[in-house]
Amino acid sequence: MDHFLYRDGALFAEDVAISEIAAAVGTPFYVYSTATLLRHFKAFDDALDGMDHLVCYAMKANSNQAVLKTLAQAGAGMDVVSAGEYLRAKAAGVPGDKIVFSGVGKTVSEIRLALEGGIRQFNVESEPEMEVLDAVARSMGKVAPITIRVNPDVDAKTHAKIATGKSENKFGIPIARAREVYRMAAAMPGLEVVGIDVHIGSQLTDLTPFELAYQKVAELTEQLRADGHTIRRLDLGGGLGIPYERSNAAPPLPTDYGAMVQKTLGHLGCEIEIEPGRLIAGNAGLMVSEVIYVKSGEGRDFLIIDGAMNDLIRPAMYEAHHDIIPVVEAEAGAEQQPYDIVGPVCESGDTFAKQRMMPKLAAGDLVAFRSAGAYGAVMASEYNSRALIPEVLVHGDQFAVIRRRPTFDEMINRDTIPEWL
Ligand code: LLP
Repeated sequence: MDHFLYRDGALFAEDVAISEIAAAVGTPFYVYSTATLLRHFKAFDDALDGMDHLVCYAMKANSNQAVLKTLAQAGAGMDVVSAGEYLRAKAAGVPGDKIVFSGVGKTVSEIRLALEGGIRQFNVESEPEMEVLDAVARSMGKVAPITIRVNPDVDAKTHAKIATGKSENKFGIPIARAREVYRMAAAMPGLEVVGIDVHIGSQLTDLTPFELAYQKVAELTEQLRADGHTIRRLDLGGGLGIPYERSNAAPPLPTDYGAMVQKTLGHLGCEIEIEPGRLIAGNAGLMVSEVIYVKSGEGRDFLIIDGAMNDLIRPAMYEAHHDIIPVVEAEAGAEQQPYDIVGPVCESGDTFAKQRMMPKLAAGDLVAFRSAGAYGAVMASEYNSRALIPEVLVHGDQFAVIRRRPTFDEMINRDTIPEWL
């Protein structure tokens, strides 16, 4: 459930009318709901109740400082994948001992930054990374806490670009080699092995692949313990999907996921970490856009809106579906018609939906893209020299701009001209 509902025919974010925000900040823009963010965080936190656990929000989904601070104040840890994310988490008040560092390509300077500022653990993804981490930690007189990310060779049954748990993917070390790699790690004085990490993909709508992967992790935990390693923490990654299409069957809920974790791993007595991103932020955000023109094409009508692929890349990049709804609710029984909904960017890939049934719309009408709070603003670019669109956070009957639209001068002046020009 989210907090974007119609009231008397007008779309609201909590207690604020979307049209009011549009009038204040201009379109297009992203808007997030505090109550929805907190509700989703709490759903995971409660689902793991009874097990020692930490929900480390995967901030790649939405790393606005205000979003991070909202979650950090509720007790969330963070999963970071770059120096920038680490610094954003720290800036939002997250202590180092609640930050986990994931990613296949951590650089020496990123490792140093995290060791200096404090880190809960590094999720190590390869032997060469392990060697670098050991050397950097020793050179700083520190010991780096690590898990090793294992690749369980499980088909996550999601879009190929966001599946990560098959042996052909670049992530983790093959689970069959895990015991050997843990032996190597245990011999490195700059490292302290604390557990195991696994993440098999994103937007999973079935628990079976998770369960298969976690069963393999449970077996590995017992083997590694028998080999003499201390395995006290299991990082289970993120990946639980959200209902992008309201007309489809809903994916499992955090409570179902929590029960499955308890069942497959509860007996091991480990501390559990999870790294959800999309499920926390996805349905906590909308992208709101205005219709610029309605254009009659050959056998189809185009709704040309002021939002584009640079603002929300998911449809162009993953053929992703986003529900698109009018900000003024259509009357019951109102006539619907199919539209191709497109942005102004100069390529055909700038298409959000084809032949989407919508009520009749006109220039000046507002539409809202649902489920745009995760992997929306963070993946935006200034392609076509379009300014990054503002982000707004709603809290009850209040709203605040949490990232403003840059001016064109700011954009132009980020470039510098060499002296020979
Ligand atoms: N942990 C790790 C190590 C990850 O790589 C990811 C996502 C997550 C956690 C969070 O997964 P989530 O709970 O959000 O599914 N841009 C794509 C999604 C890429 C996900 C990358 N990794 C999209 O828009 O669908």
